Amino acid sequence: MERIVILTGAGISAESGLATFRASDGLWEAHRVEDVATPEGFARDPALVQRFYNDRRQRAAEVAPNAAHLALAKLQRDYPGEVLIVTQNVDALHEAAGAEVLHMHGSLDGALCAACGHRWPAPMKMQVGEPCPACGAPAGRPDIVWFGEMPYHMEEIFARLSRCSYFVAIGTSGNVYPAAGFVQEADAAGAHTLELNLEASTSASHFAEARQGRATELVPPWVEEMLAEARR
Ligand code: OAD
Repeated sequence: MERIVILTGAGISAESGLATFRASDGLWEAHRVEDVATPEGFARDPALVQRFYNDRRQRAAEVAPNAAHLALAKLQRDYPGEVLIVTQNVDALHEAAGAEVLHMHGSLDGALCAACGHRWPAPMKMQVGEPCPACGAPAGRPDIVWFGEMPYHMEEIFARLSRCSYFVAIGTSGNVYPAAGFVQEADAAGAHTLELNLEASTSASHFAEARQGRATELVPPWVEEMLAEARR
């Protein structure tokens, strides 16, 4: 049986209207990454960090999945083999399109207690000192994996990479590990590796094949190719 592992990044949500991380000015929605995506940044200025993710949560609630999200959901539904979708994105657009995904960098819809580790659905606006419903500590934070923290689902993802036949990375710049190293893992397992991205990513040279363009233009035809190949 064929097994496909797909890794998505901010580029797949760009055409839905969500900003990517690495714009040409190196800033992320006018903030330094260290200020809004590290535990140290949160300790220094929790109000800034909560406001930053509150704004992103609000924005993510206003947008809809695009043709690339919908095509991946179709592949997952109709492909006769296994299709694992792993996303670095914290929006819920894959789910809104009808797909099941592993969120390796967490989710804007989740809250996490920094004191006891309890998780619960995040309110649209999280406050500084948001109380944990389990232990009562005023330690609620967005359930987002920040720099210096361990991404989620790593064991399962590496197990699936080690026996996949196709690995496809979509809309990711290849700058952030461990995701940027998935291609080498899949390559070592003998998988065909394909990058679908607006431009050649930092890890493009590790892929057997690369196609450049917008996700909404590249992903639907690739999904049709995979479904046609499976029918042959
Ligand atoms: P980046 O912003 O680093 O990269 C987005 C990639 O998508 C770039 O290579 C763009 O060229 C490409 N792109 C932009 N628009 C596109 C489109 N319409 N179609 C196809 N590709 C397009 O985002 P990520 O690689 O996802 O981590 O960033 C990885 C991680 O860095 C994020 O998950 C986040 C960030 O720090 C955490 O928050 C922990």
